[in-house]
Amino acid sequence: MGLRIALYFHLLCVFSKAASKKGVKCGGILAPSSSGNISSPNFPGLYPYNVDCSWLIVVSEGSSVLLTFYHFELEYHQDCTYDYVKIYNGVSEDEGNLLGKFCGDSSPPQFSSSWNIMSIIFHSDRHVAHSGFLVGYRKDSCGGVLTGLSGVFFSPGYPHEYSNNAECSWTIQVSNRSVVTLVFLDFQLENNEGCNLTTSHCSTARHSNTGTSGITAGTSNHLTSSPRECQQVLKTISGNFTSPSYPNIYPNNMNCHWLVALPPGYRIKLFFPLMALEDQNSLSDSCDFDSVAVYDGSSETEVLLGRWCGAEQPPPLTSRTNKLLVVLNTDRNVAFKGFTATYMGVVPMNVSCTRTEFQIQISQRALPQLDRESVFLGTPSCSAQMTATSYKILARFISCGTAGQKRQNITMLVNTLYIDFSDGKQQSVQEYEVQCDAQRKVASVSIISPEDRIRMNELARLAEESKSLESVQRAEPEAHETSDIVFISVCVLAVILMLIAIVWLVLL
Ligand SMILES: *[C@@H]1O[C@H](CO)[C@@H](O)[C@H](O)[C@H]1NC(C)=O
Ligand SMILES: *[C@@H]1O[C@H](CO)[C@@H](O)[C@H](O)[C@H]1NC(C)=O
Ligand SMILES: *[C@@H]1O[C@H](CO)[C@@H](O)[C@H](O)[C@H]1NC(C)=O
Ligand SMILES: *[C@@H]1O[C@H](CO)[C@@H](O)[C@H](O)[C@H]1NC(C)=O
Ligand SMILES: *[C@@H]1O[C@H](CO)[C@@H](O)[C@H](O)[C@H]1NC(C)=O
Ligand SMILES: *[C@@H]1O[C@H](CO)[C@@H](O)[C@H](O)[C@H]1NC(C)=O
Repeated sequence: MGLRIALYFHLLCVFSKAASKKGVKCGGILAPSSSGNISSPNFPGLYPYNVDCSWLIVVSEGSSVLLTFYHFELEYHQDCTYDYVKIYNGVSEDEGNLLGKFCGDSSPPQFSSSWNIMSIIFHSDRHVAHSGFLVGYRKDSCGGVLTGLSGVFFSPGYPHEYSNNAECSWTIQVSNRSVVTLVFLDFQLENNEGCNLTTSHCSTARHSNTGTSGITAGTSNHLTSSPRECQQVLKTISGNFTSPSYPNIYPNNMNCHWLVALPPGYRIKLFFPLMALEDQNSLSDSCDFDSVAVYDGSSETEVLLGRWCGAEQPPPLTSRTNKLLVVLNTDRNVAFKGFTATYMGVVPMNVSCTRTEFQIQISQRALPQLDRESVFLGTPSCSAQMTATSYKILARFISCGTAGQKRQNITMLVNTLYIDFSDGKQQSVQEYEVQCDAQRKVASVSIISPEDRIRMNELARLAEESKSLESVQRAEPEAHETSDIVFISVCVLAVILMLIAIVWLVLL
């Protein structure tokens, strides 16, 4: 009872707060057992100016929410900045749940949540009103239109047995540039001869991670969050990739794979110039929510090089072979900006030195299409010779721009080896620093990455950004304080009115 009264007070305060801000009452929390309709205030008349409505639809765990628009007519703007409807796969405080922002008269498509919560936000500005919208919502226990970028759906009741007479159909809708990959994680159905293999699968066997099939899906260009590819195989000698939607926040509920697969012989060096994911779970001190994992090979069964989250910056990573897998997992809520990654193929080479010269040898297998002029030490005139199996450079220290440098008391002979992969379309030159300790006749080589410099710049820029962010955050609380005072006064007033009512009832 006490709890119920407390809840009542709380709701009263919440609504007083909402009502105190705007003159129009709209929005609310809906917990439908079947279905209902939501419309903009005053529908089908013109909606009022300056309103913000928020509906939260919650159905029982295991079900989903299906939205169908019957009418849609809002003020048009190219980016829907004036009047709009926003739809969230979850709570609206979390922009990572945003499924789309809509205005004008192009009605949103059917939406289905990938879990049991969905939100709708309606906003109108000070000018121009239209008739608004009417949307039907329905609790869906099976089937639906799936519009998230990735997600998981189950047969009804999973992992328990599904009911008899169930007929469920799921439609997966993505932007017309994307390909849908369907992976069955668990599969147990009654075997039946009528079951058609081209459109469905039935079997009593238990599959695990099998049955990957690519299906091209229909169009849905209304989705504002349609990102770049999230499943990618990268084959260029060096390249960049980012979390989906970067530099905007990444979507929730993602499982993305980037496989860097270079020709045999290469190793891969990977950097993360920027990392901004949800923080680790403070209870377990591990990256349970959103994370980036890197595997030393082509699958998640290979050696894990590390798993990162929050703002923790991974160190530069180098693969043992010519393949490296990066996996991004995001959970149902809280999204951040994501990450940027840059990689380069490292050419394996043998570098040695005598007291007078460098000897550099690179297997031809590692550099299939390059001519010998593309491999040179210091200056283009010191290019490689071709032998039957390798590129070879013999360069005396007095030539090719080799210079002495003092490193920890020892004079090292240092030069730069260039490998020019540029083609007509793209400029791409790798640089390797080669060093020789001529006293001990010991040589070494390491790749110089422009990305290293970019990384430093990026870090500097980030530091700059976080400074300006701090000042914004410092400015904010004051604004909150006044509204909180109003809010608290409204609550106190509500409590006093309540007490008067109770006293009055008791006296009667
Ligand atoms: C919702 O609106 C549609 C379209 O006007 C109507 O057909 C339907 O019966 C309404 N549903 C409910 C539950 O009122
Ligand atoms: C995707 O849809 C848009 C708008 O309908 C269209 O202009 C574009 O050509 C389509 N792209 C492909 C690859 O079908
Ligand atoms: C199975 O698919 C084939 C070809 O699409 C079709 O001709 C056949 O009628 C289907 N069978 C059933 C049981 O749906
Ligand atoms: C990677 O990104 C950096 C910085 O934006 C750029 O300078 C570089 O050329 C990119 N590399 C490739 C291979 O796209
Ligand atoms: C480097 O030297 C080792 C040992 O001498 C040899 O087995 C290997 O093939 C050489 N690699 C290249 C790229 O020349
Ligand atoms: C550098 O040389 C000085 C004097 O010759 C010596 O004391 C010092 O230990 C040397 N440092 C290193 C790192 O070798």
